[in-house]
Amino acid sequence: MIQFLLNRELRTEQQLDPNVTVLNYLREHLAKPGTKEGCASGDCGACTVVVGELANVDGRECVRYRTLNSCLTFVASLHGKQLITVEDLKHQGKLHSVQQAMVDCHGSQCGFCTPGFVMSLFALQKNSSSFSKAETMEALAGNLCRCTGYRPIIDAAEQACCQKQPDQFDVFEAQTIAQLKAIAPAETAELNSGDKRCLLPLTVADLADIYAANPEARLLAGCTDLALEVTQFHRELPVMIYVGHIESMKRIEVTERSIEIGAATALSDCYAVLAQDYPDFGELLHRFASLQIRNQGTLGGNIGNASPIGDAPPLLIALGAQIVLRKGAESRTLSLEDYFIDYKVTARQEAEFIEKIIVPRPQANQAFRAYKVSKRLDDDISAVCAAFNLKVVDGTVQTARIAFGGMAAIPKRASACEAVLKGAAWYPEIIEQACAALAEDFTPLSDFRASKEYRLLTAQNLLRKCFLELQAPEVETRVTAYV
Ligand SMILES: Cc1cc2nc3c(=O)[nH]c(=O)nc-3n(C[C@H](O)[C@H](O)[C@H](O)COP(=O)(O)OP(=O)(O)OC[C@H]3O[C@@H](n4cnc5c(N)ncnc54)[C@H](O)[C@@H]3O)c2cc1C
Ligand code: FES
Ligand code: FES
Repeated sequence: MIQFLLNRELRTEQQLDPNVTVLNYLREHLAKPGTKEGCASGDCGACTVVVGELANVDGRECVRYRTLNSCLTFVASLHGKQLITVEDLKHQGKLHSVQQAMVDCHGSQCGFCTPGFVMSLFALQKNSSSFSKAETMEALAGNLCRCTGYRPIIDAAEQACCQKQPDQFDVFEAQTIAQLKAIAPAETAELNSGDKRCLLPLTVADLADIYAANPEARLLAGCTDLALEVTQFHRELPVMIYVGHIESMKRIEVTERSIEIGAATALSDCYAVLAQDYPDFGELLHRFASLQIRNQGTLGGNIGNASPIGDAPPLLIALGAQIVLRKGAESRTLSLEDYFIDYKVTARQEAEFIEKIIVPRPQANQAFRAYKVSKRLDDDISAVCAAFNLKVVDGTVQTARIAFGGMAAIPKRASACEAVLKGAAWYPEIIEQACAALAEDFTPLSDFRASKEYRLLTAQNLLRKCFLELQAPEVETRVTAYV
């Protein structure tokens, strides 16, 4: 049985197909059509809803509100949380201030994108103390409108953030906190229908036991990748195990030597800590999908899906990250680069899962640069992703770890390129030799994102760009490249 709040109404579900998305649940099971389906693949934001979770900010208990794409979220993951949809904003016959701002600023033309925009603006208003254009652009990057244009919507964001007044969610906050505490998961839950099941353990040990007993199960983290199997490929997932309730897998611990990130940590939560040590990692995470996807997608899922164009793996490999894999009571630590074997083939054994990711902290003389090249700046997948982790002392390259995504069947180190650089002078002629060596390292493919020639040339140019940036660090050349 799972329980969650639909706004402030308690909902209990026992027998529901775990393959049902929140979008279909709202529209087809609850006859709430306010939330719209545009793409059913996480690309348009029409289906945006807001999920509230208990949080503690500066010692104050509160509800943290975040957007997510309901088309990519299975209902089971709502267990213990509050779901807010566009239908919940109007209160006592009066539009919510973000809805009123959309009306006042002429931010809406059609009914398809507007509910999603309204929900993104609602979460933005909840999480901001004042108007910031940069935050607004980030909040709206996952919402597409093909007609109105964004200027009036940004005006609406400004009005909503500048004229923020307590709303019904503030008035009822204490009551919502009490309701959420009352339904906080206390034991492994299960949602099922016929022979389809989703299990929701609370501890790593329970996850290990349940996975060992159900090795055919699919692990479900943020769902942003897995849900596509259902919504795009029309497959059914008979058994799933949701890892999002395991607190220790959502924890980030920073020690003197490393950052340990639980595999189920949302990408939004990884941002602050990784950006602090490695600003380019922060920039990459800013450009990773949309805010909705980053709020739900996890670092473990980005590794677990073993995509050759996943953005975090090349950066983590270049940084020398390790992963802790767990199976039953046994744990092992593996270099991330050894995890990826071939296209979608990994070193993960049956019933084994990624428990955490260990990222080394920066050392003296270490320079780290990462670049994502994609057709659009926001909400797009990389054609090529490059990460350079170098130690250059007195003009000589002491160590070089270089990795690319989009250049091979797996995220992969550029060993021949590294070999040219190691021990060599940090000098243009050497960089050209290292660029030539990239052609030995990689034989990229052509696809709809880029041709093989484009990919190789881009990889070489990114090395040249890295060289120029490190030559003249005082010049801010870290302009993000895109096709
Ligand atoms: C519109 C859109 C845009 C996207 N943009 C980007 C992008 O810019 N860059 C990018 O890299 N990706 C992108 N993605 C892909 C996806 O969002 C990311 O890969 C995300 O990190 C997946 O995490 P998740 O938690 O949602 O994984 P899930 O969908 O829950 O799981 C993905 C896979 O990993 C497995 N898995 C999950 N957790 C674990 C674990 N702990 N141990 C072992 N296996 C596990 C699952 O079983 C599943 O096979 C995008 C996806 C969409 C829909
Ligand atoms: S329907 Fe397009 S993002 Fe969900
Ligand atoms: S107003 Fe809806 S797509 Fe532009």
